[in-house]
Amino acid sequence: MVNLDKILVRFSSKPEDGWTIRDAVRGIQIFGGIGSGKSSGSGQTLAKAFLKNGFGGLVLCAKPDERTNWQEYARKAGRENDLIIFSEESEYEFNPLEYEMTRSGKGAGEVFNLANLFMEIYKMGNRFGGGGNAGESERYWDNALRRCINRMIQLLGLAGEEISIRNMRRLLSAAPLEHEVEGISEMSDEDISKWGESNYCMGCIINAGNSVKTEEQEEEYTLISDYFLREFATLPEKTRPTIVESFLGLAEPFTSGILKKHFAQKTNLYPEVTHEGKIIILDFPVKEYLAAGVYAQGIFKLLWQQATERRNTKEDTLPVFLWVDESQLFLSDYDQIFQTTARSSKACTVFLSQNISNYYAAIGGRNPQSRVDSLLANLSTKIFHANNDAVTNEWAAKTIGKAFLNISSINVGKGQTSGVSQQLHYQVEPREFTTLLSGGKANEFEVHGVLTIAGRKWSNGRNYLEVVFSQE
Ligand SMILES: Nc1ncnc2c1ncn2[C@@H]1O[C@H](COP(=O)(O)OP(=O)(O)O)[C@@H](O)[C@H]1O
Ligand SMILES: [Mg+2]
Repeated sequence: MVNLDKILVRFSSKPEDGWTIRDAVRGIQIFGGIGSGKSSGSGQTLAKAFLKNGFGGLVLCAKPDERTNWQEYARKAGRENDLIIFSEESEYEFNPLEYEMTRSGKGAGEVFNLANLFMEIYKMGNRFGGGGNAGESERYWDNALRRCINRMIQLLGLAGEEISIRNMRRLLSAAPLEHEVEGISEMSDEDISKWGESNYCMGCIINAGNSVKTEEQEEEYTLISDYFLREFATLPEKTRPTIVESFLGLAEPFTSGILKKHFAQKTNLYPEVTHEGKIIILDFPVKEYLAAGVYAQGIFKLLWQQATERRNTKEDTLPVFLWVDESQLFLSDYDQIFQTTARSSKACTVFLSQNISNYYAAIGGRNPQSRVDSLLANLSTKIFHANNDAVTNEWAAKTIGKAFLNISSINVGKGQTSGVSQQLHYQVEPREFTTLLSGGKANEFEVHGVLTIAGRKWSNGRNYLEVVFSQE
């Protein structure tokens, strides 16, 4: 059994200031401006603790130096042999569709999962494009696209075709138009099968129809043929091209470059190896690979999260970690779901980001605040480093909360009495986050941060702790 009370990091010599596996599986959010010491300070401390304790893990790379940092941490922890560097030069490949369809376990290959995967890719693309995910009309398009993807996957599946992006593109470009389906009820079987020979979509519909054996398949077939021969064919003028464009847009990156070479063919690297103590470094830094880097790592992250949730937690499970620097780039709706089960699947999520404003922008929509707040509520350890972002500093001050503090006051006026009064004030004022030390020689390689965990009292009797991380 994993001892959840095992201490991973001691923030002081006092027993109350130990940070345990129990804390780690409840998630970690680190905020701090550029150069505030997130990576070299708190990040390095947690990373080394995970490695020293034998954890497996997945590391996403925003910057090119992430890989070298981890190689150095692993060397110091004697874990070099457990590192798997998945990079452009490596021989590793991961085809998310193939993986999802063939993995063992209930639910493998379910249309729903696959369609979700595509929708995640679509949203990641929108987000990286700077759009965020917006309101009502956007949701209409999302739903229309999701339906179309669902039906395409069902059609390919029932027709016995390979479920691949390539075949989905073929379906879309061949799907019958309104004037083509108008006279379909008067067509002879012969004419229809001739049509099927020259039109990929019609061919699939015919094959799907011929393969129907069970009542369930019959229902599915009706759904599919209704969709392609009625609904999709007669969509209002603008709708169809918009759906087609959205799909082609999300499929496009997979037709070239690293996505084609490493994420669209076979699979020889499985997320599950991290459960045996391997550490996969996804060395496709976003700084270098841009959107392709976000897609590649975002997909792997999502499927890793699902694989980690699926593992049998009754057995003696090794804790694993998910490491995401510049986490605003990789946020997904699934993070929230994952975090609620992370404790039982022994997964320690560490998100590092400059500020909360980036999170709001990435989540988008009408009310990003409440969604970001609920995600952050599920990342229970929070570490704040130096920051100039007023929104983050306010948020940090609020999160830590107020207390009655002794305030010295001088009452000018009638008398000259000076005194001490009790007033309700932020325990850490927003401005105090602007001047925390951020390492380097001038600061004797010390990075300062403020640590808080909801519901936890530290040795100082308070719900927050000022901590010092060494960069060495
Ligand atoms: N290993 C190190 N030793 C000393 N200084 C470092 C080290 N790594 C980074 N620094 C410096 O410390 C500061 C914090 O860097 P870093 O941890 O990379 O910040 P962040 O990840 O928050 O952007 C920067 O000024 C950086 O140049
Ligand atoms: Mg950094």
